[in-house]
Amino acid sequence: MDNRAIALFDSGIGGLDCVKKIRQLMPSESIIFFGDTLRAPYGDRSSEEIECFSGQIIDFLAKQPIKLVVAACNTVSSICLPKLQMQHEDLPMVGMIHPTVAYAAAHHQGKRIGIIATEAAVRSGVYQALLKKAGWTEPIFTKACPSFVPMIESGITNGPRAEQIITKELEDFLNRYDIQILLLGCTHYPYLQHTISAIYPQIKIIDPAVVVAEYVRERLRAGHMEAAESNPATQIYYTSKLTDTFSWAARAASEQQEPLIILKRILFS
Ligand code: DGL
Repeated sequence: MDNRAIALFDSGIGGLDCVKKIRQLMPSESIIFFGDTLRAPYGDRSSEEIECFSGQIIDFLAKQPIKLVVAACNTVSSICLPKLQMQHEDLPMVGMIHPTVAYAAAHHQGKRIGIIATEAAVRSGVYQALLKKAGWTEPIFTKACPSFVPMIESGITNGPRAEQIITKELEDFLNRYDIQILLLGCTHYPYLQHTISAIYPQIKIIDPAVVVAEYVRERLRAGHMEAAESNPATQIYYTSKLTDTFSWAARAASEQQEPLIILKRILFS
C-alpha cells in the first residue's frame, strides 16, 4: 500500500480530463495536478521549449509526496518523456502514447486509423513509429488540429462555433482517407468527443485518457502501490494561470464544488 499521490501534469485543462478518469477508476488515490495554463498551448512550441517546461514541472512535482507521474500530455509524451524519466530515475512515469498504442494494436487492428494531435506531436511521428512496431499493418493517417486547444482553453466545447471549427479541421481529413477509427492524440480533445461523435456518428473514437487510467491502475497493482481503501484521498490543483476554464475543469475533475484547493504557481522567473 502506498498512500502518496498520483501526480499529473499538462499544458492546461487536457490533463484535468485524465484526472477525472483516474479518479473515477481509483477514488482512493490522492491527486496532485499541475496545469501550465500560462504557457499553453505547448503544441506549436519547439521541442526544446517543451522539454524545458516539462522538466520544470517534474522538478516541482518530484518535491511533493508523490509515487508516480502521469505526463497527461501527448505533446510532452511524444517529445521528451524518456529524457524526463532519465532525469528522475526513481520516479515512475507514465505517458499517454505507449498504453494507447498497445490498446489500439490489440483492439482495432485492420481498421483505417486517423490520429489527431498537436503540431509537435504529429511532427514527432511517434504514434506511427510505435503502432508499426506493435505490428500495425494498415495505413496510418495523422493530422494536426491547431485550432482545437485554444478553443477548448477558452471554454468552447460544443455549440455552433465548436461544430464549425471541428468540421473545418476534420471534414476533409475523415472523408479523404475514409477514416474508421479516430484516436484523440491530445488530452484536450476528449472535451470535444460528444460534439465530434454527434457530427460523425459512424466513426469510432479512442480516448487515450480511459486507456491510460486503466494502465495506471494495473501498474499500481503490479507494484503493490495502490492507496488503501480507507485513504482520505486529497486533491491539489496547481496552475500557472488561474482561468475560469481551469476552475471549471478542476471542479469537474474533482467532482467537488468547494472546498477545492487550487493554487497558483509560476515555475520560472
Ligand atoms: N494537452 C496536450 C496534449 O495532449 C497539449 C496541448 C497543447 O498545449 O497544445 O498534447
